[in-house]
Amino acid sequence: MNDIIETIKQVAFEIDNAIKTADLGYSDSENSSGEDQLKLDVQSDLIIEKAFATVSSVKDLVSEEKEGVLSLNPNGKYTICYDPLDGSSLVDVNLSVGSIFGIYEGELKGENLVASAYVVYGPRIELVIADKNSAPKLYRVVGDAFKYISEIKMDEKGKLNASGGTQQNWCDYHKTFIDDLFQEGYRLRYSGGMVPDLHQIMLKGGGLFSYPGTSDKPNGKLRQLFEVIPFALMYEQAGGEAINHKGLRLLELVPSHPHDTSPCFFGSHYEINALRKAYGMS
Ligand code: AHG
Ligand code: MN
Ligand code: MN
Repeated sequence: MNDIIETIKQVAFEIDNAIKTADLGYSDSENSSGEDQLKLDVQSDLIIEKAFATVSSVKDLVSEEKEGVLSLNPNGKYTICYDPLDGSSLVDVNLSVGSIFGIYEGELKGENLVASAYVVYGPRIELVIADKNSAPKLYRVVGDAFKYISEIKMDEKGKLNASGGTQQNWCDYHKTFIDDLFQEGYRLRYSGGMVPDLHQIMLKGGGLFSYPGTSDKPNGKLRQLFEVIPFALMYEQAGGEAINHKGLRLLELVPSHPHDTSPCFFGSHYEINALRKAYGMS
């Protein structure tokens, strides 16, 4: 596992450099979710593919930017499912973006996630790593290396509300739920990049990040293997919760296709309990 973490640190520097220097135009292709790929998405994907190609513990790679599974080493133990550049459409307006990694052992489903990591490319480069045994650990680039900063622990209740999805297409009970949080004093924080949005809520102690199913996207937008499930481990290990619209823990999701999405809700206990009431789960 240590070789995987060291590789993630290495690619973080390379992707950060690409963000700062590369062409921001579109490539002439789409990814599996039907989204136009930026040249930077493709470049970040190749940086990660190349770096893991020499890590013997990695069996397969599954990327947001690749259609199928890429086999690397039949004797490897882990499959890495990753979003090479999350929020890439925000680079041209100079907002923070990220990379997300889920490290799975065996069949690709939530309960086989062994560890997860994400990198935030913002005013500073930060890395958070979670496993099943301890609170997520925050690292920051100081000089030319990642330095351990602290463990991340969320409070019982937060103050921030990051509500995704097109509001026009929300169902009535979701709209009421979000409105009620604002009535209670929650403040809107939503950049459109799930990495900085979820990072902010976790580091500020708590709150809610939601990306519900909507009339135009009944299964939401965010992809299970490389966006939803890796962050679910982060939030649970930080003392928060991560569930879908039916109350299922996101760590129990079983995708039937690598690019399957799921409605998702990440938060501290108070907000997730409020969600359960609003959605009629309790
Ligand atoms: P990606 O850039 O990897 O396609 O992901 C973007 C995602 C996620 O970062 C963000 O939370 C969400 O899309 C924002 O979607 P909306 O614009 O629909 O709010
Ligand atoms: Mn993404
Ligand atoms: Mn992406």
